[in-house]
Amino acid sequence: MKIYVSLDSAAKALGADEVAEAIRHEARARGIEVDLVRTGSRGMIWLEPLVEIDRGAGRIAHGPVTPQDVPALFDGTADSLGPTDDIPFLAGQTRLTFARCGITDPLSLADYEGHGGLAGLRRALGMEAAAIVEEVKTSGLRGRGGAGFPTGIKWDTVRQARAEQKYIVCNADEGDSGTFADRMIMEGDPFSLIEGMIIAGLGTGATKGFVYIRSEYPDAIAIMDRAIRLARDGGLLGPDILGSGRAFEMEVRIGAGAYVCGEETSLLNSLEGKRGVVRAKPPLPALQGAFGRPTVVNNVLSLATIPVIFEKGAQHYADFGLGRSRGTMPIQIAGNVQHGGLYETAFGLPLGTLVNEIAGGTASGRPVKAVQVGGPLGAYFAPHQFDTPFGYEEFDGAGGLIGHAGIVVFDDTADMAGMARFAMEFCAVESCGKCTPCRIGAVRGVETIDRIAAGDPDATAILTDLCETMTAGSLCALGGFTPYPVMSALHLFPEDFGQAREAAE
Ligand code: NAI
Ligand code: SF4
Repeated sequence: MKIYVSLDSAAKALGADEVAEAIRHEARARGIEVDLVRTGSRGMIWLEPLVEIDRGAGRIAHGPVTPQDVPALFDGTADSLGPTDDIPFLAGQTRLTFARCGITDPLSLADYEGHGGLAGLRRALGMEAAAIVEEVKTSGLRGRGGAGFPTGIKWDTVRQARAEQKYIVCNADEGDSGTFADRMIMEGDPFSLIEGMIIAGLGTGATKGFVYIRSEYPDAIAIMDRAIRLARDGGLLGPDILGSGRAFEMEVRIGAGAYVCGEETSLLNSLEGKRGVVRAKPPLPALQGAFGRPTVVNNVLSLATIPVIFEKGAQHYADFGLGRSRGTMPIQIAGNVQHGGLYETAFGLPLGTLVNEIAGGTASGRPVKAVQVGGPLGAYFAPHQFDTPFGYEEFDGAGGLIGHAGIVVFDDTADMAGMARFAMEFCAVESCGKCTPCRIGAVRGVETIDRIAAGDPDATAILTDLCETMTAGSLCALGGFTPYPVMSALHLFPEDFGQAREAAE
């Protein structure tokens, strides 16, 4: 009998370790041989701790399970969710990036290879750098950190740069509220990130990689560290990748808790041991990045998607999606929802389908009031915009952004003026201080929203003007994008700011 329990930190927070221990204890007490595998999470967080039991006819899911439920699992009398793959939340997905997450043992290279891992790397090892980059361009993959810049074009800039040393830097400083996909893949399928970084090295001529992980992710840090050691022992890293004569090495670097270190240039400063302030661009990191050398800075998901593109072919990946948003996106559903978790699907699904059907509406049972898409710098959407398809251009056209694809749902009790104030306050707290519109503007923004709440008739025009200045004059997305949640809240919910609807329109 094989039993699967997640080691993902969300599952652990909900008691997965205790359940795993109870399973071991029960098996010992009954004298039953059990193969207990700790996997990544399937992404159905409301069902964690999820226990999957395979008695030879496939995995049957149970969840959420408590240690007290364990004897019934062994008796075969526990409530069952049926075959895991048939659970609608999973069955409706197209899992390319997350294909192995929740299925394999994250720290077994043999399991990884047995489920399609390393096929992409083996193929890439037989290709010229230019052909590798071309493959990424053909796939249509765009930066999954949020900006959506074409990954192949970024790699080409680094490939063509002349330098003794080039670097691959993985941005694992996942700071957006409501996002957890980077953490999930690092904890649940770390070799996919390692394989993606090696292929990035082969495509650009970089021989050294860094994974910059936020300090708030101790489990991801520990798992990535172990996976890198296992990859080295397995001949994937070092001077002779799989006997090819090509070299790549990598290591983990740990952040120190600043949101702005998710911005690529402050991340590079922090990586180099300097204070995490934003650098002016140009020069682009692709030309002068880590330690002044040409550097690919890619998000975890961008890099972890590379292996499947090389395994199945760029066209296979590009065949999914909508418009210029090709492939799939691991969407993270959080906030006031019935079914929170990770849902990987081809671009194009309407926002309303995600919120009302996949997430099952609000957990409170009250009507949805607003959905924030794209983290703390993302715009709010109201139900009348729920036909917006999930795609970069489509969200841009609706006055928002998909960012790192986190969606946070609020019911009708949410105070949107309070949320707008929080956005400005967050910007003021997290500002690196380099430029005035953000450093001072965000503080004035909090004060101005307080003036609106106090009934000052002139304050709304001041807030609008301030937001325009922040958008136009900020050096990075923190100051430049904070107006998205502020202005969308004001336009969509003027009543919450004590104003008549017409006044805001
Ligand atoms: P950006 O548009 O300035 O740059 C995007 C990327 O393309 C950068 O890596 C840049 O160096 C690169 N690039 C641009 N032109 C290039 C060229 N010609 N050749 C090679 N590379 C080139 O956007 P930025 O400031 O890097 O990111 C902003 C985004 O970050 C926002 O859209 C937001 O959604 C997202 N974000 C994500 C967070 C997360 O937790 N994942 C947190 C905060 C923001
Ligand atoms: Fe720093 Fe804010 Fe300016 Fe970005 S916008 S460089 S975080 S002060």
